[in-house]
Amino acid sequence: MSASARRNYRPETELVHAGTMRSPFGETSEALFLTQGYVYDSSVSAEKRFKNEEPGYQYSRFSNPTVAMFEQRMAAFEGAEAARATATGMAAVTTALMGQVRAGDHIVASKALFGSCLYIVEDHLPRYGVTSTLVDGRDLDQWRNAVRPNTKTFFLESPTNPALEVLDIRAIADIAHAAGATLVVDNVFSTPLFQKPLTLGADCVVYSATKHIDGQGRCLGGVVLGSEKFIQDHVHVLIRQTGPSLSPFNAWVLLKGLETLAVRVRRQTDTAAEVAVALNGHPKVSRLIYPGRPDHPQAEIVHRQMLGGSTLVAFEIKGGKAAAFRFQDALRLIRISNNLGDAKSLITHPATTTHQRLAPAARAELGISDGLVRLSCGLEHPDDVIEDLVTALAAA
Ligand SMILES: Cc1ncc(COP(=O)(O)O)c(C=O)c1O
Repeated sequence: MSASARRNYRPETELVHAGTMRSPFGETSEALFLTQGYVYDSSVSAEKRFKNEEPGYQYSRFSNPTVAMFEQRMAAFEGAEAARATATGMAAVTTALMGQVRAGDHIVASKALFGSCLYIVEDHLPRYGVTSTLVDGRDLDQWRNAVRPNTKTFFLESPTNPALEVLDIRAIADIAHAAGATLVVDNVFSTPLFQKPLTLGADCVVYSATKHIDGQGRCLGGVVLGSEKFIQDHVHVLIRQTGPSLSPFNAWVLLKGLETLAVRVRRQTDTAAEVAVALNGHPKVSRLIYPGRPDHPQAEIVHRQMLGGSTLVAFEIKGGKAAAFRFQDALRLIRISNNLGDAKSLITHPATTTHQRLAPAARAELGISDGLVRLSCGLEHPDDVIEDLVTALAAA
């Protein structure tokens, strides 16, 4: 296998070429190595491979050429030294956090987390003796005050799901480092195209590749990125030994997804911006949140830290849950789904789906009212998306 010549290209170019390893057949498209294991030329070669004295693959739970191509392409896109792929985004989050802690340690996390991430921090890690403090991620003093002598890592998501709050990654990384802790950022909502947490001081970035990286609703995946040392110390061995590895087939789909990511995400973001303009001031919409608009609550941080807006728009329908349901049920093009980042526009009512386990007071604190809906803009013509929204609002 020959690796493609390396130099630093712009993200769009890296997304198409980085990590490509061609077999002796010289294929144009990346090869799919659907194999569990590998054979060795001799017993001596097998012994050397296991002693890491000879390069090569041993078993696809540890590594696989198609998965390695995906990892290298993601690392080049993110500007990270190393990446490890996982079977899902949740496997990426779990590995990044569990790989760093042991019983007696403490984690500080933002309250505004994807529901399953909250379960990891609040329910699973405590079973192994790891305590946590949840903070309002927008309030830097809360991060500072939550630090304890045993705090090992900070964890946040920005923009947040579903209220699209934007947190100050650089300031929070500084607080973490002053406390001797690391910062892990779930960058799903912005993608590496619009936000590079490692350049803002984060130590680790995680993705659900299920979202914009696939971008066409086909397969699940995840990835953890950081310095070579971070990945070696905290991630590589845990994945190798516990086995949340990415399937080569899904890695191949995700490699193909990366090739078109920049074009898709830019186009979806443009549509989201147009939707935000069309719905702003609509008589049935009481609140509209879109990173990139000057009226976004953290517009100054968005300007400083992000290179683009978002493929998502959140808005509140007047009339609470009943009106939000009438609106969603009246949509004809946009489909109801808890997923996001897809070529198809999707709408979610977080209070009754992704965030229904939270108590009403906790939801209110996160800005998740009964009327709030989250729209993930797809690749349809923006006018068709807007017409569908406006027609359905009339029924709300
Ligand atoms: C912000 C965020 N993080 C993590 C995940 C988990 O990803 P996966 O569903 O691929 O496990 C999701 C999925 O919806 C998400 O929205």
